[in-house]
Amino acid sequence: MKTTVSVIKADIGSVAGHCVSHPVLLEKCDEVLGNALEAGIIEDYYISRCGDDIDLIMTHTKGELNEEVHKVAYDAFLQATEIARELKLYGAGQDLLSDTFSGNIKGMGPGIAEMEFEERPSNPVIVYCCDKTEPGAFNLPIYKMFADPFNTAGLVIDPKMHDGFDFEVYDVIENKKVMLSCPEEIYDLLALIGSTGRYVIKNVFTKDGDIAATVSTERLNLMAGEYVGKDDPAAIVRAQSGFPSAGECNEAFAFPHMVSGWMRGSHNGPLMPVSEEYANPVRFDGPARVIGLGFQVSDAKLIGPVDIFDDPAYDETRQLASRAATYIRRHGPFEPHRLPSEEMEYTSLPGVMEKLEPRFEDMDD
Ligand code: 13P
Ligand code: 13P
Ligand code: MG
Ligand code: MG
Repeated sequence: MKTTVSVIKADIGSVAGHCVSHPVLLEKCDEVLGNALEAGIIEDYYISRCGDDIDLIMTHTKGELNEEVHKVAYDAFLQATEIARELKLYGAGQDLLSDTFSGNIKGMGPGIAEMEFEERPSNPVIVYCCDKTEPGAFNLPIYKMFADPFNTAGLVIDPKMHDGFDFEVYDVIENKKVMLSCPEEIYDLLALIGSTGRYVIKNVFTKDGDIAATVSTERLNLMAGEYVGKDDPAAIVRAQSGFPSAGECNEAFAFPHMVSGWMRGSHNGPLMPVSEEYANPVRFDGPARVIGLGFQVSDAKLIGPVDIFDDPAYDETRQLASRAATYIRRHGPFEPHRLPSEEMEYTSLPGVMEKLEPRFEDMDD
């Protein structure tokens, strides 16, 4: 029987402003998922949060996009939203765009990362959850894990990885997708995924078609038709024995690369890897954070997690991220700190532009 790992995440309200999900919301989710466990809908679960986003990590044997499993996540978010509204938390119900559930939670606001696989004798799985950034933030680290031999030694020295991996890339603007085979098509892959706001890595497969990694790619503001918040993503990555080792996966976050998001979803800044405890984006609503949770998946149960970035080996990364944050912050409202105009279309800026529009005059020459 195959095991499915489902990560469904949403921001349904936070303290103070867009900073942290209130613990009572996590308690409510725990209650709803606990009931689903008792009812046999899911086999195991772990609830975490990164900033103001709650991440429901569930294991089961019902496959991807399963109605019952998605309904559990939907109910958890809906019931927690009621509490968020009572407490007048900030952005109560922010990512729950619809109050009617039909079939699965796709297109309703929450982000979804799911993978179904045949369990091997041992199954290390790492879940990475972000806040204050977008799905394209995973392009660089996922590329490094599965295609960069300077990050992943196994690509060179492990015969089981030597053939490389296939990358499925989504064009989230045109709603198209393409599969690229690496290392043969590395340059084509990079030509696309360097544009992080448009081309996002959705899945990575072994050359035998086995799932290796998956990323939530839902674009919240495109769904909502207006700026409500950023589509803070989550990713699931399988490790060891034909996949990158757990350490090779985590190494991809040792460089705090620039991602878009941060204040009002409108700024570039570094992605800082932190422990669950420090996933509190307070400085200018950031900088963007990523947490890592390392599990062993065993007969559809979650053993763990290890709080990956709760490690002094990442102190230097965090220091560099802080320095990069200070450097780029000095640009204030100027690019490249503020996102370029095309990206600002999905923020609150068009409202300001609309007001200025009638004052523009044609130039004579
Ligand atoms: P161990 O020898 O500790 O099992 O580690 C092997 C390995 O591949 C580490 O990446
Ligand atoms: P979230 O996407 O995390 O809700 O943040 C939105 C925002 O505007 C932060 O300044
Ligand atoms: Mg929020
Ligand atoms: Mg968020």
